[in-house]
Amino acid sequence: MSDTQSVRGKRGESPQANRARWEERYKGGDLPWDNNRVVPFLARLVRTGVFQPPGPVLDLGCGPGNDARYLGKKGFDVTAVDLSAAALGIAATRLKRAGVLGRVRLVQANILELVRADVGAFMYGHDRGCFHCLAPRRRRLYPSVLHRLLRKGALFSLWTMGLDADREGGPYQIPAEEIRELFSTGFEVVSQIVSSGGSRSNEGGCPTCLCTLFRCS
Ligand SMILES: C[S@@+](CC[C@H](N)C(=O)[O-])C[C@H]1O[C@@H](n2cnc3c(N)ncnc32)[C@H](O)[C@@H]1O
Repeated sequence: MSDTQSVRGKRGESPQANRARWEERYKGGDLPWDNNRVVPFLARLVRTGVFQPPGPVLDLGCGPGNDARYLGKKGFDVTAVDLSAAALGIAATRLKRAGVLGRVRLVQANILELVRADVGAFMYGHDRGCFHCLAPRRRRLYPSVLHRLLRKGALFSLWTMGLDADREGGPYQIPAEEIRELFSTGFEVVSQIVSSGGSRSNEGGCPTCLCTLFRCS
C-alpha cells in the first residue's frame, strides 16, 4: 500500500497532510470499510436500549455515514464529523436518499479540534474505525477532547480492529489494555469484548474486532 493509500496517521505528519491523504483515499474509491451497513456493535446497543433516541450522538470520523444513517433512521439526532469533504459528500447523498438528512448534522472538522464548538453537548459518542487510524501522539489527545464534548454519564462506543499477527498495514493494532489505559481518566469501561467478524457481517473486513463501551464520569 502506498503512502497516499495508508489509513494510518503518520508520526510528524501535519494535520493538512493528513486531511489531504484522506481526501485522496475517498476520491480514489478504495474504501474497504464502507460496507453500506451499520456496524453490528452499534446496532446491538440501540436494539437493547443502551443507546436511546434522540441522543444526541456524536459520530467521530463518520466517513460515508453508514452508522449516522442508521442512527437517524432510529430517531437519533446525530452530529457526524469527518475530515474529508469527499466522505461527507457520500454521506450526504446516502442520508438524503434515506430521508434522514434533517436528523444528521454533517460537520467537516478534525475531531481533535472540536472542543470549542460543542462542549458537553452529547449524550452518546460513537467511533467506528477512526480512533485506530490516529497516530499515537494524536491518539493520546483523543480521550480528553471527547470527554469535554460528552455529558457526564454519557456512553461512548468504540469499535477498533482486533489484533491480527498476519495483518500488514491497515489501521494501528491497539491492544485492549492500551485502550483501557488511554481512557482511564474521565471514563470507565462498561464492557469490552473481542468479536469475530466474518466476511458477511464484515465487521470492518477483519477477522476480529474489539468493541469497547465506556461511560463518561
Ligand atoms: C476507516 S474510516 C471509517 C469511516 C466510518 N466510521 C465507517 O466506519 O465507515 C476512518 C475515517 O476517519 C476520518 N478521520 C481520520 N482522522 C480524522 C480526524 N482527525 N478528524 C476527523 N475525521 C478523521 C477519515 O476521513 C475516515 O473517514
